[in-house]
Amino acid sequence: MTDLASADYFSDGDLAQSPFDYFDHLRSRNPVFREPNYGVMVVTGYPEVVEGFKNSEALSAVNAIGGPFPPLPFEPEGDDITDQIAAHRHLFPISEHMVVMDPPDHTRARSLLGRLLTPKRLKENEEYLWSLADQVLDEFFDDEHCEFLGQYAKPFATLAITDLLGVPEEDREEFRFALGAAERSGIPVGALDHRTVAVNPLEYLDDRFSGYLAERRREPRGDILSGLAAATYPDGTTPELLELVRPATFLFAAGQETVTKLLSSALRVLCERPEYQKILREDRSLVKPFMEESLRFDSPTKVDFRLVKKNTTIGDVEVRAGTVVMLSLAAANRDPRKFENPNEFRLDRKNAHDHIAFGRGLHTCAGAPLARIEGHVTLNKLLDRMSDIRISDSAHGPEDDRKFLYEPTFLLRGLVELNIEYTRNP
Ligand code: HEM
Repeated sequence: MTDLASADYFSDGDLAQSPFDYFDHLRSRNPVFREPNYGVMVVTGYPEVVEGFKNSEALSAVNAIGGPFPPLPFEPEGDDITDQIAAHRHLFPISEHMVVMDPPDHTRARSLLGRLLTPKRLKENEEYLWSLADQVLDEFFDDEHCEFLGQYAKPFATLAITDLLGVPEEDREEFRFALGAAERSGIPVGALDHRTVAVNPLEYLDDRFSGYLAERRREPRGDILSGLAAATYPDGTTPELLELVRPATFLFAAGQETVTKLLSSALRVLCERPEYQKILREDRSLVKPFMEESLRFDSPTKVDFRLVKKNTTIGDVEVRAGTVVMLSLAAANRDPRKFENPNEFRLDRKNAHDHIAFGRGLHTCAGAPLARIEGHVTLNKLLDRMSDIRISDSAHGPEDDRKFLYEPTFLLRGLVELNIEYTRNP
């Protein structure tokens, strides 16, 4: 049995499969607890995680993705390392993307997203998603079984973002393939240019979007990409091309895996609690609360990181400049001080909507409205078109001994596969 207080959260395979006992144990010691392996300050309490997210004055997002990996590229000195972070920022992973920026750069980068994620654009995107859901379901629907992540959730999430960004119709299947979501798209591998980079999807995307936007700057076409190409900063200055490309392409990185994980965890609950299928089918207004409880119960982003730039406190604990802080959204969402019987999935939970699966503060998820729409559309379509949706015994074992494999990562929580069977509705 692993000694939870000293377990290595970052490499322990069992904790990746089942992290909640670990989080509970740490929270019971202190909601802000220094783990011994890397000296990371692990925050597992709801109010403390919210406090951490909101304290952008003292906490930098520069290490948001990697936390203690790689180790800091400098030796922290003194009570305020703001200048040291600035001098070494380019050495941190994905430093060109907004999620790891601090103000004022973050403020500028995020302002460009406002051009993309307008209420009008989201509304048009939602209309497309209803037909997209049918289109992806039709590819396997008659089989009455599927591997939900590969056959539905991944292509659906990828194509949803291609539409949001206005990728031309004729290029969308290529995106689907290049981003590894094309198990059944039918495009032969050789049909794609060799640069196609299964290796580094962000590079592929940067290339593609640089091409689109340069073309639209030369010859505007009145489409979404032309609107983005013409975007300016709030002070009226024109961004460099790459400064526009980055926010656009990052949407794929941020919005594909996370949504896939949300859709599959929600569907798992729907299969395991068949009474919900009946309740939701009869009262569709309950689909939204169901998705919110799914976000709380199995938060797709388990943890986020911050680097302390100025000595500060979180909860009742002092944290010194140079400390890596791990804000655990998944743990906060199961803090019994905030959510009664947190390990139960409850459709009628009154405060499920208070979950922090999308983070808080300056970096609050920019794609939350889209993620919610994708969940809403998917669940409604599944309920419309399928009955008796159930876990496949042959893939996951009999009902009293199911086997589910979660991705072995400390950052995200999501099933590797979800095999289901169902009956087609007439
Ligand atoms: C269930 C699905 C999703 C979850 C759980 C999720 C979660 C998160 C979280 C926790 C953050 C904050 C990171 C931090 O503070 O360090 C974040 C940021 C972000 N998310 Fe999401 N996300 C989801 C879907 C999406 C989608 C669909 C998009 C885009 C279409 C998206 C775009 C972004 C962007 C651009 C940021 C960076 C915001 C910033 O730095 O200001 N996300 N997301």
